[in-house]
Amino acid sequence: MTDITSSWNTPRIAILATVTSALTLTLGLLVGRFAISRGGHQNGVFLAGAPARLMDTEDLDVASKIMDGIDPARVEENLRELTRKPHIAGRTADFELVDFIKTRFLQYGLQVQITPYDVLLSYPSDEVPNTVRLLDGKENVLYDSRKDESKLSNAPGVVKPFHAFSPAGLVEGQLVYAGYGRVEDYDWLKSHNIDVTGHLVIVKYGKMFRGDKVDIAQTNGAAGILMYTDPAEFTGMKGGDDRVYPSTWWLPPDGVQRGTVFTGEGDPLTPGYPANDLAYRYKEDDVSLPKIPSHPIGYGAAENIMKHLDGLKVPEDSDWQGGMNISYRTGPGFLVPSWKIQLNVTSRNQRAKVENVFGIIKGNIEPDRYVLLGNHRDAWIYGALDPSTGTAAMLEIARTMGELVKSGDWRPRRTIIFCSWGAEEYGHFGSAEWVEQYVATIRERAVAYINMDVPVIGNDTLHVDATPLMHKLAYETAKKVPNPNPSERAAGRPFVYDTWLRVEPWLDSDKQSKRIPKIGPLGSGSDYAPLLQRAGVTSLDLWYAVDPTLYDVQWYALYHTEYEVFDIYKSQFDKDFEYLSAVARFSAEVTRSLADSLLLPLSPADYSRGLLDILHILDTNHGTVLRENLDNFEKLEKVIKEFGKDVEEFEHRLKTLDSNNPFIARQINDQMVLLERAFLVPAGLPQRPLKKHILFAENANNRYAGSSFPGLGDLLFQIELDPDPRKRWERVRQHFSAILHTIQSAGATLREVSKFMLETM
Ligand SMILES: *[C@@H]1O[C@H](CO)[C@@H](O)[C@H](O)[C@H]1NC(C)=O
Ligand SMILES: *[C@@H]1O[C@H](CO)[C@@H](O)[C@H](O)[C@H]1NC(C)=O
Ligand SMILES: *[C@@H]1O[C@H](CO)[C@@H](O)[C@H](O)[C@H]1NC(C)=O
Ligand SMILES: [Zn+2]
Repeated sequence: MTDITSSWNTPRIAILATVTSALTLTLGLLVGRFAISRGGHQNGVFLAGAPARLMDTEDLDVASKIMDGIDPARVEENLRELTRKPHIAGRTADFELVDFIKTRFLQYGLQVQITPYDVLLSYPSDEVPNTVRLLDGKENVLYDSRKDESKLSNAPGVVKPFHAFSPAGLVEGQLVYAGYGRVEDYDWLKSHNIDVTGHLVIVKYGKMFRGDKVDIAQTNGAAGILMYTDPAEFTGMKGGDDRVYPSTWWLPPDGVQRGTVFTGEGDPLTPGYPANDLAYRYKEDDVSLPKIPSHPIGYGAAENIMKHLDGLKVPEDSDWQGGMNISYRTGPGFLVPSWKIQLNVTSRNQRAKVENVFGIIKGNIEPDRYVLLGNHRDAWIYGALDPSTGTAAMLEIARTMGELVKSGDWRPRRTIIFCSWGAEEYGHFGSAEWVEQYVATIRERAVAYINMDVPVIGNDTLHVDATPLMHKLAYETAKKVPNPNPSERAAGRPFVYDTWLRVEPWLDSDKQSKRIPKIGPLGSGSDYAPLLQRAGVTSLDLWYAVDPTLYDVQWYALYHTEYEVFDIYKSQFDKDFEYLSAVARFSAEVTRSLADSLLLPLSPADYSRGLLDILHILDTNHGTVLRENLDNFEKLEKVIKEFGKDVEEFEHRLKTLDSNNPFIARQINDQMVLLERAFLVPAGLPQRPLKKHILFAENANNRYAGSSFPGLGDLLFQIELDPDPRKRWERVRQHFSAILHTIQSAGATLREVSKFMLETM
């Protein structure tokens, strides 16, 4: 770690440690306004040190103190504490963790606030479990999927496999295998005269959000749906190693991925508004909850059921094949015609309390500007990776920063808020309710949000998804964080950035490396979604990932199973907690930099490059049909280029700004922060009023994936199959024009403030 400190030679700028009260600050601003001279700071006539401090910028010694302060042994201890018991949202162990986190924040010298909400959750029945059975047609049970469940399931508090918000119900009949359960998979079945209407379907996990799979099955007329984890993607088979948990991180046959199948966000009964005592609550029947029973099983159970399926053999060279030692067939029907499949879902929806816990370090100079760092607290079971690694790291960042503040050596310029969100697993409930409650304040004051939900899913490279405004900061920070991998360091890659660039180079459209690591767009997989898409808070999400050239996996295999326990994390992912600590250092430094720099380290220039990138993607995917159907397609490039000019002029002004005027610094910062807000459209995306970011959101057919121009993507999806394509194209034209307008008006936020209006039409 010494090598980082030596690479920084910026002179230390003194920071006075006194805590400025709001009063001192206001007086300081008033006095300072008349007293700051061009020549530099003057002392004497002002209140103690205030005017000088107004222009203080970051102290890079603090950066190294915080990064060096992150202690892997303490991160490990945190994870051990957080994963002692299963802690699903809304039940006792979750509230015990609320107290635990609150106590820690207080110990670290942080202010604490807790926001409770009363929301609708869903739990499996403790008395009558959900069952999947194979029946012989004469009341005999040939196979019961519960037989394959692990012995660990008997530990108190372990929630049996279920899909949250599946309705209860008994479905019995024929089974159809529908691949990944995507729209195109049902199209393929239809093209082979296989109709799923009234049958149960079985689909494999992967490629898209499970809630969308239920939605699509329902739209296709299925009576119920089973989801299983195919070994091709959840074991090491393709990597050449077929050993599974507990000797490796691969999924054993009885591991079952739980999860929500609610496709909305936030409490289902109070859409758009906080679920508190003022709320109007819709009836369950009046909101969009899934209508068909759904249930997850492991590949052990799936094999025992699917090996008996009759019907069409699936094509050899297609992704309908998988890793089970069976001949994959579609059904409907079993080899013995009288056999049937039976699903009995007995789970219930239930109102419950969920809480967010906030730990706050009040800013010294701009306390009304908030830098948010957060992670959820609830887990389906022990949650050793998801989300407790995130919380273990966040607590250590809070400790390190808190102790530095207590010692009197530092107080950030802006306020830092650590957020422990409740009930994320059900559909970002804690964060969405909080945004709904405080949206006006958040839109006014939040600078940025850093999310660290599952910060380690592998130990090969850093991976970042972020809005363009955060790209530059992500690169600069990754160049400061020491590489946790000794062999990478020995190979001449001293920083996290070096390995990131090697493993995930950003390729341009000609497959040439742009010589920077790739940063992905944000989908809707975690708590950044409500902050970005409803409040326009620029966001970053990150994790240590596997090298995609070594492993053919989409996510870590033990995800949402009961095997996500402390021991497997330590033995298989991160023996010395160096990887989690590296992510903690990265997040801490991003947070500190956003909280401390006089001028925010955000990059509007990356936004204009980002817009050109997504234009290119749009053109590649849909350019031909868009040109045929829209007479103003070329205007998109034009408004993006004009936006680019606004950015250039802005950056030019930045270089010449009066560096002694705190009001100018504040104005520039507000312009950069508000740029993200400028991409929100008040009415929301077509059919999705609560998704307001016109450039980045998930794709409506797959809520995990980040997509660019999501509204256009949705409208163009299978447009050729629409019974009334003319009407659909009118909606495309309307939305396209909203995009043009939004980009054009976003440029105005960056212009010289007295000349922000356009004079042409
Ligand atoms: C696959 O199944 C066949 C027939 O059931 C069996 O003979 C074979 O040994 C199995 N292969 C493996 C690798 O388990
Ligand atoms: C299905 O579950 C219900 C409880 O919701 C239970 O009463 C019923 O006996 C179950 N039926 C079968 C066939 O398991
Ligand atoms: C990194 O991951 C691999 C694959 O599970 C594991 O074998 C190795 O021990 C891990 N490294 C550390 C330092 O934990
Ligand atoms: Zn999570």
